[in-house]
Amino acid sequence: MTQSVSQGEQPNVSPVVLRMEGVSRYFGAHAAVDCVSFELHKGEVLTLLGPSGCGKTTTLRMAIGLERVSSGRVLYGSRVIDAPAERIFVSPEDRDMGMVFQSYAIWPHMSVFENVAFPLRTRGAPKSTIDSKVNEILTHVGLAGFAARPGMHLSGGQQQRVAVARGLVANPDVLLMDEPFSNLDAKLRDRLRTELRVLQRRLNISILFVTHDQTEALALSDRIAVMRDGKIEQIGPPIELYTHPATPFVRDFLGQSVLVRARIVESGADGTRVRLGDGTQLVSHGRNHLANAATEAKCLLSVRPEEIRIVPAAMNGAANTVAGTIRHLLFLGQYYEAIIDLPRGQEAQMHLGREATWHEGQQIHLQFPKEHVQIWDRQ
Ligand SMILES: Nc1ncnc2c1ncn2[C@@H]1O[C@H](COP(=O)(O)OP(=O)(O)OP(=O)(O)O)[C@@H](O)[C@H]1O
Ligand SMILES: [Mg+2]
Repeated sequence: MTQSVSQGEQPNVSPVVLRMEGVSRYFGAHAAVDCVSFELHKGEVLTLLGPSGCGKTTTLRMAIGLERVSSGRVLYGSRVIDAPAERIFVSPEDRDMGMVFQSYAIWPHMSVFENVAFPLRTRGAPKSTIDSKVNEILTHVGLAGFAARPGMHLSGGQQQRVAVARGLVANPDVLLMDEPFSNLDAKLRDRLRTELRVLQRRLNISILFVTHDQTEALALSDRIAVMRDGKIEQIGPPIELYTHPATPFVRDFLGQSVLVRARIVESGADGTRVRLGDGTQLVSHGRNHLANAATEAKCLLSVRPEEIRIVPAAMNGAANTVAGTIRHLLFLGQYYEAIIDLPRGQEAQMHLGREATWHEGQQIHLQFPKEHVQIWDRQ
């Protein structure tokens, strides 16, 4: 597993509630999950982020026991709950976890109250406990007054709140959430995401969250594990993954980058000097991922577009600039979305602020701040 160096991050001293130790899951010869390890701490939101088919749901299903691991171990606190080598398997009912599934999965014919009460009834809780717990959690998710409403008479967002309430009602130590907001429109998704974060902090819930939506992952998570082909590529706080991606996959999955082909001129005390195809030279103080950074080695530069400053053509010659021409300009209200032609048929896609006037065909210069220029292998 590739793991980046923490940038001064405080270690999480909260107890570990769930631990996956080298867990794999095979379907036939295919490893849907391939030697995955991570820990979920008390009160933490850890998100598994990755494209369709990378093994997110399978990992959650192994955590709760709907799927057995092929190899490795799952621990709940310090207790082993699945370990084929030790012939241990604890069934889902005996794991203190709640789950919110990928689709709404609430029962339309049942009332909101009955939907939410279900996990308590299966545990044989007394009626008075059920009444108070269900009403308390409905208040938390903003559905006080909806108890008697049949599930089918709810909006998508309300149904999703019911699913969250049902996941939380039995006070599980861990809540597993599999793309809970993916069926909702963008505005409602943003709103529920914020509500979930507030509720999670208030109740200090530990959540293992799954999404393929990078914005959702960035907004919700204390840490993100980026998954690809059944493996974790990098795990860490959102800001660390965004600013110091360890692999091209993490860099490209989590946010946009401006990518420019170059060759190494020299590496020295003042960072790495590179040359673009048109002869422009730039200096990088960012991370250099090249295995071989010899002079003339081919490389790829990456910069997050919001780090790039546009300087007027008159200031050409200012440090670390690349010439560009605005090819397309779209006005999107808060800003312009621009496609900018760079030397040698390359391009940058970035936002331009409204404080200046822009037009298609305009010559500009893009200043790449040295510390934000990272150097990669050119595949
Ligand atoms: N029961 C199964 N039998 C065979 N293959 C399976 C089974 N469940 C999952 N897979 C395969 O395992 C891989 C991982 O599936 P998984 O559902 O974990 O992906 P995911 O990351 O949740 O994707 P999505 O974002 O589309 O939900 C996929 O290739 C899938 O086809
Ligand atoms: Mg899935």
